[in-house]
Amino acid sequence: MKKLGIALLAGMVVLVAVAALVWHLNVQDEPDVSASVAASTSAPTPAVVARGQYLARAGDCMACHTARGGATFAGGLALATPFGTVYTSNLTPDMETGIGSWSSAEFWRALHNGRAKSGRLLYPAFPYTNYTKVTREDSDALYAWLRTLAPVHQPNRPNALRWPYNTQAALAVWRALFFKPGAYIPDGNRTAEWNRGAYLIQGLGHCSACHATRNVLGATSGALDLAGGLIPVQNWYAPSLESAHEAGVADWDVPRIVELFKTGTTRHGWVTGPMAEAVLNGTQYLSQQDLVAMAQYLKALPGAKASDAASVPPAHARVNPAVALWGARLYKDNCAQCHGATGQGVPHAYPALAGNRAVTMDSPANLVQMVLYGGFAPATAGNPRPFGMPPYVLVLNDGEIAAVLTHIRTAWGNQATQVSNVQVGQLRGSATP
Ligand code: HEC
Ligand code: HEC
Ligand code: HEC
Repeated sequence: MKKLGIALLAGMVVLVAVAALVWHLNVQDEPDVSASVAASTSAPTPAVVARGQYLARAGDCMACHTARGGATFAGGLALATPFGTVYTSNLTPDMETGIGSWSSAEFWRALHNGRAKSGRLLYPAFPYTNYTKVTREDSDALYAWLRTLAPVHQPNRPNALRWPYNTQAALAVWRALFFKPGAYIPDGNRTAEWNRGAYLIQGLGHCSACHATRNVLGATSGALDLAGGLIPVQNWYAPSLESAHEAGVADWDVPRIVELFKTGTTRHGWVTGPMAEAVLNGTQYLSQQDLVAMAQYLKALPGAKASDAASVPPAHARVNPAVALWGARLYKDNCAQCHGATGQGVPHAYPALAGNRAVTMDSPANLVQMVLYGGFAPATAGNPRPFGMPPYVLVLNDGEIAAVLTHIRTAWGNQATQVSNVQVGQLRGSATP
């Protein structure tokens, strides 16, 4: 009896200690929001407001905080996660439903610590695990600009997450495990340019939110990880920026990388799907100087060069001749009119498929997405009227899609593995035999 009592007591002590630790980790490095309310009364200068708008583009805030067909920045966009749906918040300065009553310190606490004005912990579908690296100065500029928007009265929709993910306690534990408020610490051994690129890519650019693998609890290993990952639910694969066979750009010259982020299309790469949106809403507006800085950072990533030993070339496929013939015929009938008889494409109109690593990359996820649902390159100043790719979801079945994709992965010198019906079925979410 006495032993049981001691064990129970010990258990409770441990529980309390863990709870205290989780609590401590959740409030670490939080600003005192009560103190600085009075300090933030002086009106920001037009230059600060303009910088805030620029930074909002670098952070792609609008893409998430605007619902399709809804008022700009009024939130309400549903983000599907493996744990349920999270709705984005109203960031217009409406007093009741937006951030009209927020102080700059409360706004900074949201970005830096992931905590709302009410004290509620925020879900990391809001990529504050990256934004935590944004400086207070930049946060204040963002805040100043958002407050110049027209207020929109639109209450936030409650999130619809499954138990236990919908509890603050579960979120607190998640944060204790996977989130630490941070700051960008410049690397003294690198150039100012590299450091600027690192700050933008790790922080506002939140590239790792897509370009890193998420664990079963939806966490990435941090803002430095850009080794590629499948975006949950959306089933787009954000390729590794650390591999020359995927999206590494170490072997590209700087102007070409800048061109990709400015226009979305180059002779060597072509953005599609979620990356087209990142270019459309974000990178196309960045200054030449910032894009060059980002390019320098990407070029210096470990493993990104083709000559790096870690980059293993894609596997060679042996294709059943009947499938090869079938795929070639499907290609001729459906695709050749745009992508060319030998997959050569048309510059700035239709991407080449021959010698295109987006086609030969290990993961066929994006190929399946493109053929099923089609897509548009982003409309940018450098490419104002992008051509579209039609959807084939009602035209080709899983077997036909597998055959045509196997064809483009193995024809014209391309050397990649074949795509199976099962893979297409899984990515489409309908397992057909
Ligand atoms: C990938 C999507 C995404 C992007 C990009 C994004 N947000 Fe959010 N944001 C969210 C979601 C989702 C929430 C709500 C989280 C919750 O309810 O727990 C949110 C909440 C917030 C909140 C808290 C608002 C409130 O009422 O509690 C602020 C402030 C905010 N975001 C600012 C920004 C800023 C500034 C940017 C750009 C630098 C940005 N967000 C970019 C998804 C995003
Ligand atoms: C919303 C998710 C998302 C975000 C955020 C994102 N990417 Fe991507 N990115 C993708 C996907 C998906 C692809 C694959 C499709 C494609 O090739 O365009 C991709 C492709 C790329 C490519 C290869 C393009 C090509 O044609 O070879 C580069 C380079 C790249 N991303 C860099 C970045 C950088 C740098 C950032 C941060 C500033 C970033 N991405 C942010 C999803 C994202
Ligand atoms: C009407 C012209 C047209 C037809 C027909 C067409 N495509 Fe496309 N395709 C495009 C355009 C335009 C893009 C670029 C879209 C984007 O960036 O989102 C594209 C993009 C792609 C990509 C992504 C390339 C990259 O670099 O990311 C693949 C793969 C692809 N198409 C395969 C096919 C296949 C397979 C077929 C036949 C089943 C086909 N396309 C039919 C116009 C077409």
